[in-house]
Amino acid sequence: MAILETTDLKYTYPDGTLAIEGISISIDKGKKIAFVGPNGSGKSTLFLLLNGTLEPQEGKIIFHGKPLLYDTPSLREIRKSIGIVFQNSDDQIFAPTVYQDVAFGPTNLEMTEEEVVAKVNETLEYVGLLELKDKPPHHLSGGQKKRVAVAGVVVMEPEVIILDEPLANLDPVGADEILDLLNELNQFEKTIVISTHDVDFAYSWADYIYLLVNRKIIGSGTPEEVFCDPGMLKDAGLKIPMILEIYYEIQKRNMASVNRVPKTVPEIVDTLKPPSLIWVDVPEGVKEGDRLDFGLYMEEIGKQCSEEVMDARVLHIHENGQAIVAVKRKAAGIGKVLVYDTDSYKLKEIKELLASADFDVTGAMGKRTKLILESDHLKLDFTVGVIDKSILMALCGKNVLIFTGGGMVDHAVRRISDYCKKSGVRIKVGVFNRETGKAQDWKAVLEVKEQKSEAS
Ligand SMILES: Nc1ncnc2c1ncn2[C@@H]1O[C@H](COP(=O)(O)OP(=O)(O)O)[C@@H](O)[C@H]1O
Ligand SMILES: [Mg+2]
Repeated sequence: MAILETTDLKYTYPDGTLAIEGISISIDKGKKIAFVGPNGSGKSTLFLLLNGTLEPQEGKIIFHGKPLLYDTPSLREIRKSIGIVFQNSDDQIFAPTVYQDVAFGPTNLEMTEEEVVAKVNETLEYVGLLELKDKPPHHLSGGQKKRVAVAGVVVMEPEVIILDEPLANLDPVGADEILDLLNELNQFEKTIVISTHDVDFAYSWADYIYLLVNRKIIGSGTPEEVFCDPGMLKDAGLKIPMILEIYYEIQKRNMASVNRVPKTVPEIVDTLKPPSLIWVDVPEGVKEGDRLDFGLYMEEIGKQCSEEVMDARVLHIHENGQAIVAVKRKAAGIGKVLVYDTDSYKLKEIKELLASADFDVTGAMGKRTKLILESDHLKLDFTVGVIDKSILMALCGKNVLIFTGGGMVDHAVRRISDYCKKSGVRIKVGVFNRETGKAQDWKAVLEVKEQKSEAS
């Protein structure tokens, strides 16, 4: 359902620069939307129009079905519901301390002082800034400043959060932290709208994309629709996302065994699965349905399959004497993924899990979870791109322990299960200590999970 729409927006700056021309968009609630376009295409201007900071000369902005009004009370209301994080944090942050900056918005709402203190502290903890609350913001790193700016918006509990080039000028760690935060906010039903000219980021992150070029929308669609359309990319002057470029090369070489456009590294790995059907020369007498004798055919089969073959069955014999043979390989040991719900965090329990040596690698998602683990001196193998890395590890036979809390627990399980559904690979995944809150045997958690999924 559309939460925010525009019809035929037009905006000209007072100096006569036409910045936005005839823009009509429709943004669905709870989605991740990316506006992709070169510098000067009008992204920042559009964003300032969307939350009423600028007023268009033509066209309308419609929020929850009602056109935006530009009197002061209406504007105050809309800016609470549609928060905007500027590209440059210094344009946004002005109070002498981190705490005061984040408290600025809530102080101007009808809240008691205790309510403001509680709300601000909760938000600072959420974005991992509680320990820096008394610092002057201009002493912080770029990534920390960005989190202060995001906190100043999140504290107002907006329905839509707009971020202008959220990853620009951040180092990789800072960028990953912001990305983590955006994904987590989205899990809690926030609609997230960003601008970027990073095609790799837009392609893998967004649910829906608008291409903005020369003040106009020149195309829109899912990331696959937009980025698999060479014409659209050319018109927008954009390059192909790296994942797609690799996939096209794999396809050209006839190496793609799956015809599904990949969006993540695990998905591109999946396209490289060895074929399950091969051509084999068979002598007369072999019939369709026969199982091939490994002693006789191993050399031939071995040339075409790198892994150990368990079974080879003739499906069809061609008139030239060649047969289509279905091969079953010895399944590589697939690892398991256990998600530890840090909402009921018990250090002793975690230490036992880690000491059991059942897990080869550990990862954590969410700023709050990472800070708790850090303060308990627990070392993690990965803290960014955790779900994809967990899948890749499990595919290599490793057991993975993921720490996370809140809505991210379900998100992790869902993403891994989706991968399994699409690829046909079964990675066992379970959530520890969620249902009973008591210590459990993690192996039992995964077994129960498996029985459930088999029953369904
Ligand atoms: N305050 C301003 N006054 C006049 N022109 C502006 C102003 N801000 C932006 N512009 C112009 O509006 C156009 C769109 O700019 P902008 O919205 O910043 O694009 P983007 O964010 O995609 O880089 C550009 O031609 C830019 O020079
Ligand atoms: Mg801009």
